[in-house]
Amino acid sequence: NLQPVLLSGGSGTRLWPLSREAYPKQFLPLAGEETMLQDTWRRVAPLAAHPPIVVANEEHRFLAAEQLRLVGVEHADIVLEPAGRNTAPAIAAAALQALAGGGDPLLLVLPSDHVVRDAEGFRAAVRAAMPAAEAGALLTFGIVPSAPETGFGYIQSSAGDGVRDVLRFVEKPDAATAQDYLDAGGYYWNSGMFLFRASRYLAELERFRPDIVAAVRKAFDAAVRDGDFIRLDRDAFASSPSDSIDYAVMEKTDAARVLPVDIGWDDVGSWSALWGVSEQDGDGNARHGDVIAVDTRNSYAYARRLVALVGVDDLVVVETDDAVLVAHKDRVQQVKDVVSKLKSDQ
Ligand code: GDD
Ligand code: MG
Repeated sequence: NLQPVLLSGGSGTRLWPLSREAYPKQFLPLAGEETMLQDTWRRVAPLAAHPPIVVANEEHRFLAAEQLRLVGVEHADIVLEPAGRNTAPAIAAAALQALAGGGDPLLLVLPSDHVVRDAEGFRAAVRAAMPAAEAGALLTFGIVPSAPETGFGYIQSSAGDGVRDVLRFVEKPDAATAQDYLDAGGYYWNSGMFLFRASRYLAELERFRPDIVAAVRKAFDAAVRDGDFIRLDRDAFASSPSDSIDYAVMEKTDAARVLPVDIGWDDVGSWSALWGVSEQDGDGNARHGDVIAVDTRNSYAYARRLVALVGVDDLVVVETDDAVLVAHKDRVQQVKDVVSKLKSDQ
C-alpha cells in the first residue's frame, strides 16, 4: 500500500543560470532525456499502489501536471503551496492528503531532483524497508559518504545488516564535524528519501512542531480543490513556520531507522555534481549542446549557441539565452551567491 510523494518545490539555485525560479531543476532534463521529475516517477511507478501526490509551488502547477501526464500519469493529487515553507510542512500537507483517502498508506517521500542509476536496486531497497515502516519507523535510506560534504544530513547507525537503528542524525554539520564523522566511520548520508506511515509522520511532527501541524491542517482544511490541484489556503499556509523534515523531525525523533543502500544515488545539487553524473569524453569533459573542447580537461559546458573551450581545466561554462556562467569547478557551491546578489540588486 505504497503512496509515492514527489517533493517538487525546491528552486535549485546552485544550478543557475539553467535552473530558475520560474523553471527549477526538477523540471529540466538535466541528467537524461526526461526531466528529473519524470525520472523520479518512472523509478517508483512499478511499486506504487496509488497515483503520486505531488507537492509543488502554485507557480509550477502546469509544469508538474503536464510533465507527469507525458509519462503516463493520468491523474495525480497535486498539492499547491502558495509559498515554500520547506519540507516539514510540504510533507505534512501530503500526509493529510493521503489520510483524506480514508486509509493510512506508507508514504514514500522522494525529492524530484535526484539521480538514481540503479532503479531496480532502489525498488528492492524500498521493498526491504517496508516492514520497518509498517511497524512505525520513520525510515530513511543511507548513502555511504565519499567526502565531508556539508550539504547533507549525517546518520550514525547501529551495527548490523539491513535496517538499523539511528543513533544520531545531524543535519548539515560544518566541514570539521563532517570530517570527524568520516574518520570515525559508521556514518551515512541521509539520502532525503523517506518511508513512513502518514499518521506516524504527523504524530512525530505534532510532538516537536505542533505549530507547523496546526498551520498546515488549517491550510489543508480550507484548501480549494480544482481538478487535480489542491490549493492550500494562502494565509493559513503562509503562517506555518519554515523548517525541513530533517531539523524538525529526524534530528529529534526516537523512531528514526536507516537502510543503507548502494543504488548509484546522487543529489546533483551543483554543476560539479552534474559533471560527475554526465557522460564524459576521454579528457573528462562533459559537453551538453554545441561545444568544442581543445586541449581542455575535466570541464563541463552547457551551450545553446556554439561554445569553444581552449586550454582550460576544471572549468564550468553554462550559456543560456540570457545569462552566461563561467566558474571554477571547485567553486560551484558559490553559484547560489550569484542568485542572492541578483535578488538583492532587484
Ligand atoms: N514542495 C516543496 N516545498 N518541496 C520542497 C520545498 C518546499 O518548500 N523545499 C524543498 N523541497 C524539495 C526540493 O525540491 C527537493 O526535492 C527536496 O524537497 C529536498 O529539499 P532540498 O532543499 O534539496 O534539501 P537539501 O538538499 O538541502 O537537504 C536534504 O536532502 C539531502 C540529500 O540530498 C536533507 O534531507 C539532507 O539531510 C539530505 O542529505
Ligand atoms: Mg537537495
